[in-house]
Amino acid sequence: MYSKTLPTGIDKILWSETKIKRRVCELAAEIEQDYLKSISNKHPRYQPIVAIGILKGAFIFLSDLIRAISVPVEPDFVRVSSYSMGVNPGQLHFVHDAKTSLKERHVLIVEDIVDTGLTLSFLANEFKKRGAASIKFCALIDKTCRREKEVQLDYVGFHYSGDAFLVGYGLDYEEKYRNLIYIATLSPSAIQSSS
Ligand code: PRP
Repeated sequence: MYSKTLPTGIDKILWSETKIKRRVCELAAEIEQDYLKSISNKHPRYQPIVAIGILKGAFIFLSDLIRAISVPVEPDFVRVSSYSMGVNPGQLHFVHDAKTSLKERHVLIVEDIVDTGLTLSFLANEFKKRGAASIKFCALIDKTCRREKEVQLDYVGFHYSGDAFLVGYGLDYEEKYRNLIYIATLSPSAIQSSS
């Protein structure tokens, strides 16, 4: 439970802890069924799913999601960032790359929120080159209002068409609010007052 008084800067709770838990379990069940349909655990090349979380935002979602999946899952993480200057400003690159070889593996990329789509589009291109048996995308939130690159999401927790800044359950504003147990909108005044 959380108190009725919301933390400073928080406007409105969009998805409560209960709703998130329920949705994460539904996504886990979907992922597991699809995986079991596509490969038998008697198959000689059977290997656990590789679930790759995108840091930092996806760390809470990934840990809840994989614990709700009952087939073997190997977690790994990447972190990407964009160059702010130099020859390719805005271009994404790995700050931390996955340690797991993706060759012939079933890869599930786990994202907390898809916004412009640039991060997932970059990762899709990079991971295709590594010879994965399959690559699927799972996003807790599909926020569509600023989309620049179309990405085909296989699993979506919640669709959001508004343009508010979302925080909580891993999502931050200037590194704050990641530990909220719910997902909420940030008040525009909180953004203005920090700029
Ligand atoms: C956020 C979010 C996604 C990414 C999505 O990460 O966690 O990974 O942006 O944005 P896009 O669809 O526009 O590419 P951020 O770069 O803020 O880092 P963080 O996860 O450490 O908060």
